[in-house]
Amino acid sequence: MTLGALGLNGLRAEVDFAKSVQSVFEARCIDCHGSKKQKGDLRLDSLKAAASVIEPGKSGESELFKRIILPADHEDIMPPKGDPLSKEQIDGIKAWIDEGAKWPEGLVLLSERERAEAKAAASRLPVPDIKAAEVSDAEKAAIAKLSSGEGIGDQAAAPLVMALAQDTQLIYANFRLIGKNVEDKHIAPLADIANLSELDLSNTKVTGAGVATIKNSKRLTKLSLAGTAVDDAALKNIEGLINLMSINLYNTKVTDAGLASLKNMKFLRKVYGWQSGITEKGAAELKKALPNVDVNLGFKLAKVEPKEEKKEEVKQVSFNKKCPVSGKDIDPTKLYTINFCCNNCLGNFTKDPAKHVAKLKGSDNKKCIFQDKDVDAGKKFVIGFCCGNCLGGFTMDPAKHIAKVKK
Ligand code: HEC
Repeated sequence: MTLGALGLNGLRAEVDFAKSVQSVFEARCIDCHGSKKQKGDLRLDSLKAAASVIEPGKSGESELFKRIILPADHEDIMPPKGDPLSKEQIDGIKAWIDEGAKWPEGLVLLSERERAEAKAAASRLPVPDIKAAEVSDAEKAAIAKLSSGEGIGDQAAAPLVMALAQDTQLIYANFRLIGKNVEDKHIAPLADIANLSELDLSNTKVTGAGVATIKNSKRLTKLSLAGTAVDDAALKNIEGLINLMSINLYNTKVTDAGLASLKNMKFLRKVYGWQSGITEKGAAELKKALPNVDVNLGFKLAKVEPKEEKKEEVKQVSFNKKCPVSGKDIDPTKLYTINFCCNNCLGNFTKDPAKHVAKLKGSDNKKCIFQDKDVDAGKKFVIGFCCGNCLGGFTMDPAKHIAKVKK
Protein backbone atom coordinates (compact mmCIF):
# COMPACT_ATOMS: atom_id res chain seq x y z
CA MET A 1 0.00 0.00 0.00
CA THR A 2 1.43 3.39 -0.89
CA LEU A 3 1.07 6.35 1.40
CA GLY A 4 -0.96 8.08 -1.27
CA ALA A 5 -3.67 5.51 -0.80
CA LEU A 6 -4.11 6.42 2.86
CA GLY A 7 -6.89 8.82 3.64
CA LEU A 8 -6.39 11.56 6.22
CA ASN A 9 -7.84 9.50 9.02
CA GLY A 10 -5.52 6.61 8.25
CA LEU A 11 -8.23 4.59 6.54
CA ARG A 12 -7.50 3.45 3.08
CA ALA A 13 -9.23 5.61 0.52
CA GLU A 14 -10.62 3.93 -2.58
CA VAL A 15 -8.97 4.77 -5.84
CA ASP A 16 -10.93 7.30 -7.86
CA PHE A 17 -11.44 5.50 -11.17
CA ALA A 18 -12.23 8.64 -13.16
CA LYS A 19 -9.15 10.46 -11.97
CA SER A 20 -6.55 7.72 -11.59
CA VAL A 21 -7.50 5.34 -14.38
CA GLN A 22 -9.99 6.73 -16.87
CA SER A 23 -8.18 10.02 -17.44
CA VAL A 24 -4.83 8.26 -17.96
CA PHE A 25 -6.21 5.59 -20.27
CA GLU A 26 -8.18 8.13 -22.30
CA ALA A 27 -5.18 10.43 -22.68
CA ARG A 28 -2.50 7.81 -23.29
CA CYS A 29 -3.89 4.40 -24.31
CA ILE A 30 -7.29 4.46 -26.02
CA ASP A 31 -6.06 5.99 -29.29
CA CYS A 32 -4.33 2.67 -29.98
CA HIS A 33 -6.46 0.35 -27.83
CA GLY A 34 -10.03 1.55 -28.39
CA SER A 35 -12.86 1.33 -30.89
CA LYS A 36 -10.84 2.77 -33.78
CA LYS A 37 -7.54 0.89 -33.45
CA GLN A 38 -6.73 -2.30 -31.59
CA LYS A 39 -2.94 -2.44 -31.58
CA GLY A 40 -1.69 -5.82 -30.41
CA ASP A 41 -5.35 -6.95 -30.67
CA LEU A 42 -6.03 -5.22 -27.38
CA ARG A 43 -8.80 -2.87 -26.32
CA LEU A 44 -8.69 -1.05 -23.01
CA ASP A 45 -12.00 0.80 -23.28
CA SER A 46 -14.11 -1.58 -21.22
CA LEU A 47 -13.33 -3.94 -18.36
CA LYS A 48 -14.32 -6.95 -20.42
CA ALA A 49 -11.95 -6.01 -23.20
CA ALA A 50 -9.10 -5.21 -20.80
CA ALA A 51 -9.54 -8.34 -18.70
CA SER A 52 -6.90 -10.27 -20.63
CA VAL A 53 -4.12 -7.98 -19.36
CA ILE A 54 -5.38 -7.28 -15.84
CA GLU A 55 -5.29 -9.66 -12.86
CA PRO A 56 -7.58 -8.01 -10.30
CA GLY A 57 -5.79 -7.77 -6.95
CA LYS A 58 -2.40 -8.57 -8.46
CA SER A 59 -0.69 -5.69 -10.20
CA GLY A 60 2.59 -7.65 -10.36
CA GLU A 61 0.95 -10.34 -12.48
CA SER A 62 -0.92 -7.95 -14.75
CA GLU A 63 0.55 -7.55 -18.23
CA LEU A 64 -0.82 -4.02 -18.33
CA PHE A 65 1.10 -3.03 -15.23
CA LYS A 66 4.29 -4.78 -16.34
CA ARG A 67 4.19 -2.79 -19.57
CA ILE A 68 3.87 0.64 -17.98
CA ILE A 69 6.76 0.17 -15.53
CA LEU A 70 9.36 -0.92 -18.09
CA PRO A 71 12.44 1.31 -18.47
CA ALA A 72 11.77 4.25 -20.78
CA ASP A 73 14.04 2.87 -23.49
CA HIS A 74 12.58 -0.65 -23.44
CA GLU A 75 10.97 -1.55 -26.75
CA ASP A 76 7.82 -3.01 -25.11
CA ILE A 77 7.02 -0.04 -22.87
CA MET A 78 3.47 1.36 -23.01
CA PRO A 79 2.66 3.87 -24.21
CA PRO A 80 5.26 3.31 -26.94
CA LYS A 81 5.27 6.99 -27.88
CA GLY A 82 5.78 10.10 -25.80
CA ASP A 83 6.86 10.26 -22.15
CA PRO A 84 6.38 7.21 -19.95
CA LEU A 85 3.55 7.52 -17.44
CA SER A 86 4.48 9.56 -14.36
CA LYS A 87 5.13 7.89 -11.03
CA GLU A 88 1.85 9.24 -9.73
CA GLN A 89 -0.06 7.80 -12.68
CA ILE A 90 1.67 4.44 -12.28
CA ASP A 91 0.93 4.39 -8.54
CA GLY A 92 -2.72 5.16 -9.22
CA ILE A 93 -3.08 2.29 -11.68
CA LYS A 94 -1.21 -0.07 -9.34
CA ALA A 95 -3.50 0.79 -6.43
CA TRP A 96 -6.55 0.38 -8.66
CA ILE A 97 -5.52 -3.11 -9.80
CA ASP A 98 -4.56 -4.13 -6.28
CA GLU A 99 -7.94 -2.99 -5.00
CA GLY A 100 -9.64 -5.35 -7.44
CA ALA A 101 -9.71 -3.31 -10.67
CA LYS A 102 -13.25 -2.10 -10.17
CA TRP A 103 -14.74 -0.51 -13.28
CA PRO A 104 -18.00 1.46 -13.22
CA GLU A 105 -20.62 -0.80 -14.76
CA GLY A 106 -21.15 -0.29 -18.44
CA LEU A 107 -18.65 2.56 -18.77
CA VAL A 108 -16.85 2.63 -22.12
CA LEU A 109 -13.82 4.88 -22.42
CA LEU A 110 -13.28 7.19 -25.38
CA SER A 111 -9.95 8.61 -26.44
CA GLU A 112 -9.49 12.31 -25.80
CA ARG A 113 -9.65 12.82 -29.52
CA GLU A 114 -12.97 10.95 -29.84
CA ARG A 115 -14.40 12.98 -26.99
CA ALA A 116 -13.31 16.23 -28.59
CA GLU A 117 -14.73 15.17 -31.95
CA ALA A 118 -18.06 14.15 -30.47
CA LYS A 119 -18.29 17.44 -28.63
CA ALA A 120 -17.38 19.48 -31.68
CA ALA A 121 -19.90 17.60 -33.83
CA ALA A 122 -22.64 18.25 -31.29
CA SER A 123 -21.84 21.93 -31.01
CA ARG A 124 -21.88 22.37 -34.77
CA LEU A 125 -25.53 21.39 -34.89
CA PRO A 126 -27.73 24.46 -34.70
CA VAL A 127 -30.16 24.77 -31.81
CA PRO A 128 -33.20 27.02 -31.76
CA ASP A 129 -32.84 30.25 -29.85
CA ILE A 130 -35.79 30.09 -27.52
CA LYS A 131 -36.50 32.59 -24.80
CA ALA A 132 -39.42 32.36 -22.44
CA ALA A 133 -42.14 34.94 -22.98
CA GLU A 134 -43.78 37.11 -20.35
CA VAL A 135 -46.49 34.94 -18.79
CA SER A 136 -49.84 36.43 -19.84
CA ASP A 137 -53.02 36.20 -17.80
CA ALA A 138 -54.46 33.93 -20.47
CA GLU A 139 -51.49 31.60 -20.05
CA LYS A 140 -51.85 31.55 -16.27
CA ALA A 141 -55.54 30.75 -16.63
CA ALA A 142 -54.86 28.00 -19.15
CA ILE A 143 -52.28 26.35 -16.89
CA ALA A 144 -54.63 26.54 -13.92
CA LYS A 145 -57.50 25.11 -15.91
CA LEU A 146 -55.48 22.18 -17.23
CA SER A 147 -53.92 21.43 -13.85
CA SER A 148 -57.33 21.30 -12.22
CA GLY A 149 -58.29 18.51 -14.60
CA GLU A 150 -61.66 20.19 -14.96
CA GLY A 151 -63.88 18.29 -17.37
CA ILE A 152 -61.40 15.56 -18.15
CA GLY A 153 -62.65 12.09 -17.32
CA ASP A 154 -63.07 11.50 -13.61
CA GLN A 155 -61.92 14.27 -11.33
CA ALA A 156 -58.63 12.63 -10.47
CA ALA A 157 -57.46 12.87 -14.05
CA ALA A 158 -55.38 15.98 -14.54
CA PRO A 159 -52.49 16.37 -16.93
CA LEU A 160 -49.10 17.34 -15.64
CA VAL A 161 -48.39 20.97 -16.52
CA MET A 162 -45.28 22.40 -14.96
CA ALA A 163 -42.14 24.46 -15.50
CA LEU A 164 -39.56 22.60 -17.53
CA ALA A 165 -36.90 23.40 -14.96
CA GLN A 166 -36.54 25.45 -11.82
CA ASP A 167 -35.32 28.65 -13.42
CA THR A 168 -37.53 28.95 -16.47
CA GLN A 169 -41.06 29.84 -17.46
CA LEU A 170 -40.96 27.29 -20.28
CA ILE A 171 -43.66 24.68 -19.81
CA TYR A 172 -43.71 20.91 -19.92
CA ALA A 173 -47.15 19.34 -20.36
CA ASN A 174 -47.88 15.65 -20.16
CA PHE A 175 -51.27 14.11 -20.91
CA ARG A 176 -49.97 10.58 -21.32
CA LEU A 177 -50.75 9.39 -17.83
CA ILE A 178 -54.42 10.16 -18.33
CA GLY A 179 -54.31 9.33 -22.05
CA LYS A 180 -57.62 7.68 -22.84
CA ASN A 181 -59.70 10.37 -21.15
CA VAL A 182 -58.21 13.15 -23.24
CA GLU A 183 -60.06 14.42 -26.29
CA ASP A 184 -59.43 17.36 -28.59
CA LYS A 185 -61.55 19.75 -26.53
CA HIS A 186 -59.52 19.04 -23.41
CA ILE A 187 -56.29 20.31 -24.88
CA ALA A 188 -57.78 23.57 -26.18
CA PRO A 189 -56.19 25.67 -23.37
CA LEU A 190 -52.75 24.74 -24.75
CA ALA A 191 -53.27 27.39 -27.43
CA ASP A 192 -52.89 30.05 -24.71
CA ILE A 193 -49.65 28.67 -23.30
CA ALA A 194 -47.11 30.67 -25.26
CA ASN A 195 -44.27 29.09 -23.29
CA LEU A 196 -45.20 25.53 -24.16
CA SER A 197 -41.88 23.79 -24.76
CA GLU A 198 -42.43 20.05 -24.38
CA LEU A 199 -45.73 18.29 -24.94
CA ASP A 200 -46.63 14.64 -24.53
CA LEU A 201 -49.98 13.67 -26.02
CA SER A 202 -49.17 9.96 -26.33
CA ASN A 203 -52.02 7.49 -26.00
CA THR A 204 -54.64 10.24 -25.94
CA LYS A 205 -57.71 10.42 -28.18
CA VAL A 206 -56.43 13.58 -29.80
CA THR A 207 -57.04 13.82 -33.56
CA GLY A 208 -55.71 15.96 -36.37
CA ALA A 209 -58.15 18.73 -35.45
CA GLY A 210 -56.85 18.71 -31.89
CA VAL A 211 -53.28 18.89 -33.06
CA ALA A 212 -54.13 22.18 -34.79
CA THR A 213 -54.44 23.67 -31.27
CA ILE A 214 -50.67 23.89 -31.09
CA LYS A 215 -50.00 25.09 -34.61
CA ASN A 216 -48.64 28.40 -33.33
CA SER A 217 -46.62 26.98 -30.43
CA LYS A 218 -43.35 28.36 -31.67
CA ARG A 219 -41.45 27.45 -28.51
CA LEU A 220 -42.33 23.80 -28.80
CA THR A 221 -39.16 21.69 -29.17
CA LYS A 222 -40.41 18.26 -28.22
CA LEU A 223 -43.71 16.61 -29.12
CA SER A 224 -45.03 13.11 -28.68
CA LEU A 225 -48.09 11.93 -30.60
CA ALA A 226 -47.29 8.24 -30.08
CA GLY A 227 -50.26 5.92 -29.99
CA THR A 228 -52.75 8.55 -31.19
CA ALA A 229 -55.01 8.69 -34.25
CA VAL A 230 -52.87 11.34 -35.97
CA ASP A 231 -52.13 10.73 -39.63
CA ASP A 232 -50.47 12.51 -42.52
CA ALA A 233 -53.20 15.15 -42.73
CA ALA A 234 -52.77 15.91 -39.01
CA LEU A 235 -49.10 16.68 -39.48
CA LYS A 236 -49.99 19.32 -42.06
CA ASN A 237 -51.46 21.29 -39.17
CA ILE A 238 -48.11 21.60 -37.46
CA GLU A 239 -45.88 22.35 -40.43
CA GLY A 240 -45.16 25.71 -38.86
CA LEU A 241 -43.55 24.38 -35.67
CA ILE A 242 -40.15 25.35 -36.95
CA ASN A 243 -38.32 24.91 -33.64
CA LEU A 244 -39.30 21.31 -33.11
CA MET A 245 -36.26 19.15 -32.32
CA SER A 246 -37.94 15.85 -31.61
CA ILE A 247 -41.24 14.27 -32.62
CA ASN A 248 -42.56 10.87 -31.59
CA LEU A 249 -44.85 9.22 -34.14
CA TYR A 250 -44.54 5.71 -32.76
CA ASN A 251 -47.62 3.57 -33.41
CA THR A 252 -49.48 6.13 -35.55
CA LYS A 253 -50.84 6.05 -39.10
CA VAL A 254 -48.29 8.56 -40.34
CA THR A 255 -46.58 7.53 -43.60
CA ASP A 256 -43.78 8.88 -45.75
CA ALA A 257 -46.19 11.49 -47.13
CA GLY A 258 -46.65 12.89 -43.62
CA LEU A 259 -42.93 13.17 -43.07
CA ALA A 260 -42.86 15.75 -45.84
CA SER A 261 -44.66 18.13 -43.47
CA LEU A 262 -41.58 18.12 -41.25
CA LYS A 263 -39.07 19.15 -43.85
CA ASN A 264 -38.88 22.83 -42.88
CA MET A 265 -38.15 22.02 -39.24
CA LYS A 266 -34.49 22.78 -39.55
CA PHE A 267 -33.64 21.92 -35.94
CA LEU A 268 -35.31 18.53 -36.07
CA ARG A 269 -32.96 15.79 -34.83
CA LYS A 270 -35.15 12.87 -33.84
CA VAL A 271 -38.19 11.30 -35.41
CA TYR A 272 -39.47 8.15 -33.76
CA GLY A 273 -41.38 6.19 -36.37
CA TRP A 274 -41.47 2.70 -35.05
CA GLN A 275 -44.75 0.91 -35.90
CA SER A 276 -45.95 3.71 -38.14
CA GLY A 277 -46.28 3.73 -41.92
CA ILE A 278 -42.91 5.45 -42.32
CA THR A 279 -40.41 3.53 -44.43
CA GLU A 280 -36.65 3.67 -44.92
CA LYS A 281 -37.33 5.42 -48.20
CA GLY A 282 -39.33 8.21 -46.57
CA ALA A 283 -36.66 8.55 -43.89
CA ALA A 284 -33.98 8.92 -46.57
CA GLU A 285 -36.08 11.53 -48.35
CA LEU A 286 -36.45 13.60 -45.15
CA LYS A 287 -32.72 13.31 -44.55
CA LYS A 288 -32.10 15.02 -47.87
CA ALA A 289 -33.83 18.13 -46.54
CA LEU A 290 -32.57 17.70 -42.96
CA PRO A 291 -29.17 15.97 -42.92
CA ASN A 292 -28.99 15.97 -39.12
CA VAL A 293 -32.24 14.17 -38.55
CA ASP A 294 -32.27 10.64 -37.21
CA VAL A 295 -35.43 8.74 -38.13
CA ASN A 296 -35.70 5.80 -35.78
CA LEU A 297 -37.76 3.00 -37.31
CA GLY A 298 -36.90 0.50 -34.58
CA PHE A 299 -36.55 -3.14 -35.36
CA LYS A 300 -38.11 -4.59 -38.44
CA LEU A 301 -41.16 -6.17 -36.90
CA ALA A 302 -44.50 -6.94 -38.40
CA LYS A 303 -47.04 -4.32 -37.40
CA VAL A 304 -48.83 -5.58 -34.35
CA GLU A 305 -52.53 -5.09 -34.17
CA PRO A 306 -53.60 -3.31 -31.01
CA LYS A 307 -54.69 -5.88 -28.47
CA GLU A 308 -58.22 -5.94 -27.20
CA GLU A 309 -58.37 -4.37 -23.79
CA LYS A 310 -60.22 -7.03 -21.86
CA LYS A 311 -59.45 -5.70 -18.45
CA GLU A 312 -61.02 -2.30 -19.16
CA GLU A 313 -63.04 -2.43 -15.94
CA VAL A 314 -59.92 -1.93 -13.85
CA LYS A 315 -59.74 1.84 -13.67
CA GLN A 316 -56.19 2.35 -12.56
CA VAL A 317 -53.71 2.68 -15.41
CA SER A 318 -50.05 2.00 -14.96
CA PHE A 319 -47.36 4.23 -16.39
CA ASN A 320 -45.54 1.29 -18.00
CA LYS A 321 -46.87 -1.19 -20.54
CA LYS A 322 -44.47 -4.04 -19.80
CA CYS A 323 -43.45 -5.54 -16.49
CA PRO A 324 -40.08 -3.99 -15.59
CA VAL A 325 -38.90 -7.25 -14.02
CA SER A 326 -39.97 -9.84 -16.61
CA GLY A 327 -40.76 -7.74 -19.68
CA LYS A 328 -44.16 -9.43 -19.97
CA ASP A 329 -47.57 -7.79 -20.28
CA ILE A 330 -49.07 -6.27 -17.17
CA ASP A 331 -51.74 -7.69 -14.94
CA PRO A 332 -53.68 -4.54 -13.98
CA THR A 333 -54.26 -5.86 -10.50
CA LYS A 334 -50.51 -6.10 -9.73
CA LEU A 335 -49.58 -2.51 -9.10
CA TYR A 336 -47.07 -0.54 -7.09
CA THR A 337 -48.47 2.90 -6.40
CA ILE A 338 -46.50 5.94 -5.35
CA ASN A 339 -48.66 8.79 -4.07
CA PHE A 340 -47.85 12.48 -4.02
CA CYS A 341 -49.29 15.60 -2.45
CA CYS A 342 -49.38 17.65 -5.66
CA ASN A 343 -48.66 17.67 -9.37
CA ASN A 344 -45.28 19.28 -8.84
CA CYS A 345 -44.03 16.40 -6.72
CA LEU A 346 -45.53 13.87 -9.11
CA GLY A 347 -43.88 15.62 -12.04
CA ASN A 348 -40.61 15.80 -10.22
CA PHE A 349 -40.67 12.06 -9.70
CA THR A 350 -41.89 11.23 -13.21
CA LYS A 351 -39.05 13.11 -14.85
CA ASP A 352 -36.39 11.00 -13.17
CA PRO A 353 -37.69 8.10 -11.06
CA ALA A 354 -34.22 6.59 -10.65
CA LYS A 355 -33.06 9.73 -8.87
CA HIS A 356 -35.73 9.48 -6.21
CA VAL A 357 -36.03 5.74 -5.85
CA ALA A 358 -34.36 5.73 -2.44
CA LYS A 359 -37.34 7.63 -1.02
CA LEU A 360 -39.81 4.83 -1.77
CA LYS A 361 -41.14 3.26 1.42
CA GLY A 362 -43.39 0.55 0.08
CA SER A 363 -46.44 0.77 -2.15
CA ASP A 364 -49.33 3.16 -1.53
CA ASN A 365 -47.60 5.61 0.80
CA LYS A 366 -49.76 7.93 2.88
CA LYS A 367 -47.30 10.83 3.12
CA CYS A 368 -45.77 12.43 0.03
CA ILE A 369 -42.25 11.17 -0.52
CA PHE A 370 -40.98 14.71 -1.11
CA GLN A 371 -42.83 16.75 1.47
CA ASP A 372 -44.24 15.92 4.84
CA LYS A 373 -47.78 16.28 3.56
CA ASP A 374 -50.74 14.00 3.15
CA VAL A 375 -51.07 12.59 -0.33
CA ASP A 376 -53.75 13.63 -2.80
CA ALA A 377 -55.72 10.65 -4.14
CA GLY A 378 -55.35 11.76 -7.76
CA LYS A 379 -51.62 12.39 -7.77
CA LYS A 380 -50.09 9.01 -8.21
CA PHE A 381 -47.44 7.23 -10.22
CA VAL A 382 -48.40 3.64 -10.84
CA ILE A 383 -46.01 0.87 -11.88
CA GLY A 384 -47.58 -2.31 -13.24
CA PHE A 385 -46.26 -5.89 -13.05
CA CYS A 386 -47.13 -9.16 -14.73
CA CYS A 387 -47.55 -11.13 -11.50
CA GLY A 388 -47.25 -11.02 -7.73
CA ASN A 389 -43.75 -12.42 -7.82
CA CYS A 390 -42.41 -9.59 -9.92
CA LEU A 391 -44.29 -7.02 -7.83
CA GLY A 392 -42.71 -8.58 -4.73
CA GLY A 393 -39.28 -8.57 -6.34
CA PHE A 394 -39.62 -4.89 -7.14
CA THR A 395 -40.87 -4.01 -3.66
CA MET A 396 -37.83 -5.70 -2.11
CA ASP A 397 -35.38 -3.72 -4.23
CA PRO A 398 -36.91 -0.89 -6.29
CA ALA A 399 -33.51 0.56 -7.15
CA LYS A 400 -32.61 -2.54 -9.08
CA HIS A 401 -35.57 -2.37 -11.45
CA ILE A 402 -36.75 1.22 -11.62
CA ALA A 403 -34.59 2.06 -14.62
CA LYS A 404 -36.61 -0.49 -16.59
CA VAL A 405 -39.91 1.21 -15.88
CA LYS A 406 -40.74 2.53 -19.35
CA LYS A 407 -43.99 3.69 -20.84
C1 HEC B 1 0.77 4.53 -30.26
C2 HEC B 1 -0.03 3.35 -30.03
C3 HEC B 1 -0.11 2.79 -28.64
C4 HEC B 1 -0.44 3.44 -27.48
C5 HEC B 1 -0.75 4.93 -27.29
C6 HEC B 1 -0.48 2.42 -26.45
N1 HEC B 1 -0.19 1.19 -26.98
FE1 HEC B 1 -0.22 -0.58 -26.01
N2 HEC B 1 0.32 -1.54 -27.69
C7 HEC B 1 0.60 -0.94 -28.89
C8 HEC B 1 1.08 -1.95 -29.84
C9 HEC B 1 1.51 -1.68 -31.29
C10 HEC B 1 1.05 -3.15 -29.16
C11 HEC B 1 1.44 -4.54 -29.74
C12 HEC B 1 2.91 -4.74 -29.71
C13 HEC B 1 3.38 -5.08 -28.34
O1 HEC B 1 2.85 -5.99 -27.75
O2 HEC B 1 4.29 -4.38 -27.87
C14 HEC B 1 0.58 -2.88 -27.82
C15 HEC B 1 0.43 -3.83 -26.83
C16 HEC B 1 0.02 -3.56 -25.53
C17 HEC B 1 -0.14 -4.56 -24.51
C18 HEC B 1 0.13 -6.04 -24.65
C19 HEC B 1 -1.09 -6.75 -25.19
C20 HEC B 1 -1.08 -8.23 -24.91
O3 HEC B 1 -2.06 -8.84 -25.32
O4 HEC B 1 -0.13 -8.72 -24.31
C21 HEC B 1 -0.57 -3.93 -23.39
C22 HEC B 1 -0.89 -4.54 -22.06
C23 HEC B 1 -0.67 -2.53 -23.73
N3 HEC B 1 -0.30 -2.35 -25.05
C24 HEC B 1 -1.08 -1.56 -22.82
C25 HEC B 1 -1.08 -0.22 -23.12
C26 HEC B 1 -1.41 0.78 -22.15
C27 HEC B 1 -1.80 0.53 -20.69
C28 HEC B 1 -1.35 1.97 -22.78
C29 HEC B 1 -1.53 3.34 -22.18
C30 HEC B 1 -0.84 3.63 -20.97
C31 HEC B 1 -0.95 1.72 -24.16
N4 HEC B 1 -0.83 0.35 -24.32
C32 HEC B 1 -0.81 2.69 -25.13
C33 HEC B 1 0.42 0.40 -29.21
C34 HEC B 1 0.06 1.38 -28.30
